[in-house]
Amino acid sequence: MSRRTWVLTAAALVPVVAVGCASMGQMKPEEAIAARQQLMKDQGAAWKNIQDKTKAGDVAGLLPDAQKLVDTSKQIPKLFPEGSLNPEKSAAKPEIWAKWSDFEAAAKNLTAQSEKLRDTAQSGDKAATQAVVQTFGRQACGTCHTPFRVPPKQS
Ligand code: HEC
Repeated sequence: MSRRTWVLTAAALVPVVAVGCASMGQMKPEEAIAARQQLMKDQGAAWKNIQDKTKAGDVAGLLPDAQKLVDTSKQIPKLFPEGSLNPEKSAAKPEIWAKWSDFEAAAKNLTAQSEKLRDTAQSGDKAATQAVVQTFGRQACGTCHTPFRVPPKQS
């Protein structure tokens, strides 16, 4: 093939290689930042659905989103590789790496809280589910955002 074709082919392969590395915990900083921001957006969407379903009294309806939070919470630590601090592109604070075990514990706490939410919803007990949902934002998300995330400009 021509040199031009070869260069284009090589360029097309780069993302594939990067994704391959990611699964081995060797993600590039920019990739990790994009991936964790996407994961957090997905968590934001799941959390919004959970609140909407709870308001509508549909506790079974929030099960898929609670499970989604269980699953995504386990991905969090590997999307914060050392060296992915970038104040221009990311709201991650340096405290994440200075207090890594606290950060990991905050991710584990989200897993545990999401499992509790899922299991409570599964029991069909509306009042108990509403009670979990009421404190969830603060206890499951806020406990990590407060120490480890630069607050968004609005809200
Ligand atoms: C273990 C820590 C941790 C937990 C738990 C956590 N977050 Fe985050 N979240 C972060 C960090 C750090 C950022 C900033 C990431 C960046 O910009 O690199 C963030 C960013 C976000 C963003 C902004 C994404 C963007 O860039 O547009 C949303 C939305 C979000 N989180 C939602 C949630 C929700 C909802 C929960 C709970 C269900 C949650 N997060 C739990 C650490 C956490």
